[in-house]
This record gives sequence, C-alpha cells and structure tokens, in this order.
Amino acid sequence: MQQDKVKIKLSGVSASLLPCLWVRAQLSKEYSSLFYDEKAIELVEKIDFEFSTSDVPFQGIWFNISRKLNLPPCGPPVLRAKHFDDKIRAYIAGHPHASVISLAAGLDTTFYRVDNGTIRWYDLDLPAVIDIRRQLLPEPDRVTYIAKSLLDPSWCKDVNTEDGVFMIAGGVFQFFEQSEMKQFFSMLADNFPDGEIVFDVLSKLDIDFGAWIDMLPQEQRDAIRVAWMEAWVEALKDWWERAPQDQKDKVNGMIAALKTPTKPKGKEWSDIEAWWNKLSDTEKEGVMRDYIKSSSRGVMKWALEDANDITKWDDRITVIDQFPLYRDIPRDSLSAEMRQFMDHSDRNGRFNIVHLRV
Ligand SMILES: C[S@@+](CC[C@H](N)C(=O)[O-])C[C@H]1O[C@@H](n2cnc3c(N)ncnc32)[C@H](O)[C@@H]1O
Repeated sequence: MQQDKVKIKLSGVSASLLPCLWVRAQLSKEYSSLFYDEKAIELVEKIDFEFSTSDVPFQGIWFNISRKLNLPPCGPPVLRAKHFDDKIRAYIAGHPHASVISLAAGLDTTFYRVDNGTIRWYDLDLPAVIDIRRQLLPEPDRVTYIAKSLLDPSWCKDVNTEDGVFMIAGGVFQFFEQSEMKQFFSMLADNFPDGEIVFDVLSKLDIDFGAWIDMLPQEQRDAIRVAWMEAWVEALKDWWERAPQDQKDKVNGMIAALKTPTKPKGKEWSDIEAWWNKLSDTEKEGVMRDYIKSSSRGVMKWALEDANDITKWDDRITVIDQFPLYRDIPRDSLSAEMRQFMDHSDRNGRFNIVHLRV
C-alpha cells in the first residue's frame, strides 16, 4: 500500500540509481528468460516513486522513448548485470570465500543472485545512498555496507583480503574525470594485488550523445532518426503533462539556450509544440541533438575505447577481457528493433564491459 512505501529523495548522480533498479525489475517482469531479479522487483514495489514518469531529470522521457521505439529496457543497467553475474560466478567457483565488492552499489541486488553461501559481500556507495539501502534492504549475514566515496582510499582497509577480492562497478565510471580514474586504478593495485574488477564503460561516441547514429548505414540511420525525433517529441509531451514545475522550468531553460534561429513564444507545452511544428526536419534534429547534449553536459566525463590504455597508466594492471555490451546476449525473445539496436551498438563499440586484474 502506498502509505507503507519508502519515499526517496536523491539528487545529482545518486538519483540515477533509481532508473537502474527500475529497468532491472521491468526487464525481469517482461523478459524473465533473459534476466531475472526477484529482489529488484520486490524493491521497486517498496519504493514510493513514479519510475515511468520520473522526476529524475529527463529519465522519464527516455523510458517513454524506448517504449515508443519498441526497445525493451535492455540497456546497460540490466545487461551489464548479466555479464557481471557470469564473471562473479566464475571467480567464486575458484575462490568460494572471496570478498566481492559492489562499488557504487546504489540499490544493486547482485548479492541475492550470485551468493554461494560462503562469500563475503560489500556494497559501497555515498552515505546518503547507504542510508536508503539500509532502510530498504537491511544488511544480511556476510554482507557489509560501506558508506564512503569509491575515491576515498580508506574503504580498501574495510575489506577482508584473505581469500581473494573481486569488484564490480556498474554505471558509475563515466561520472569521473580521467585523472580520478587513473588514481583509482592505482589505488586498487596498491591495496588488492591480484584482485579483479569488472565494469562497464562508455565510448567517446556515447559521451558525445547522438554521434553513434551517424555511423549507421544511411538507410537505417534515416529511419532511426525520424523515429527517434517523433518519439522524442511525443515522449516530451507525455512527460510534460505529469512533470513537476521545477523540471518544466529546467526544460524551458534548455530550450532557451539552444542555438536555433527561432524560439517558443511562451513556456507552455502549446508554445513549444507550435514552435516545434514549424521547424524543418534538419532543424528538429539539430534541436534534439543540442538538447540531449546539454542535458548530459558536464555530467558524463570518462570514456574509454581500449582497456589496454589503463595498463599504460599503471603496469601492474592487466586486461583479462573486454567486449561489447551485447555480446552473447540471447536475442530471440527481443523485438527486431531491439536486435538491430544491439547489433549497431556493439559494432560501433558504444558500450563495453572490461575485466581487469589489478
Ligand atoms: C547509475 S547509478 C548505478 C548504481 C548501481 N551500480 C546499479 O547498477 O544499479 C550510479 C551510482 O554511483 C554512485 N556514486 C556516485 N559517485 C560515487 C562515489 N564517488 N563513490 C561511490 N558511489 C558513487 C551513486 O550514488 C549511484 O548509486
């Protein structure tokens, strides 16, 4: 019942943990043969938060777009988890008492999917997030929560290193500068010799949002562009009806900052729609790209094309594996649009999974 649910207020990067949880629960309900996370479903039901029209800045818009484009929620938050699970299971098969650390855990529930009954588990995140985690998911046996920044070297001393250390980090490294990442990996090498880490990473293409569309063959590119543009404006309209005023103000601010020759005459949806309808297709596309860029500007920072670059920063680190996000993901239950999307994404190296020994 609504009154029993936990109300969550998070801001900045930490708010991004909610959509990650939501898509894992959603995919588990809709495509359980691909991925199933019962604990994520349970958690979403405990939270008082309207995920599909979320007031996390603009996240609701993306959910609506993926629905309209017939793309199920198979993005990085879900499918990286599938790869992480496989990697953890392989590691703990050889190290049954290992310490496994989920860095920037948010409301990640990996422990419940992979536990072998003997591992030690650590979930680390910023103090505000760990408070929420404790409220929703009290620490079970063999699990320790660490309320620290992953950049703070003191957390390394909170981990038992006797039986091997394996780390996962999902959806977080893009928020750091490259200089911070360099220090971070050296800190791991100092503290966990022979430890392993698996993480997902964006390519520069994705940081420069929209650029990956340009790499598609012309025909698919045009089709995706048109569909994307139509879906974008419909989704924005949908969102507008439900969005809180401060979020609408942010959108208006972004539109005002666009480099378009014309601007909406007012701040209501009808003004935006009237302005939009008068733009040419090329102008519409330009608006959409600028808008997307401005909404992620300053937030998305670190991108990596080849994990071997990290070994050049610190020669104690070696690459065990790196591969595109959708490799080996069964596609049979997915829509043709989704299969196409996954193939394009992998071919262009949009997101990668990286596995290192430190
Ligand atoms: C996109 S969410 C991903 C959460 C989780 N890994 C998942 O897959 O659901 C990003 C997470 O990074 C956490 N985060 C951001 N900066 C951090 C830092 N300096 N140290 C630890 N966690 C951080 C946020 O609080 C948030 O939980």
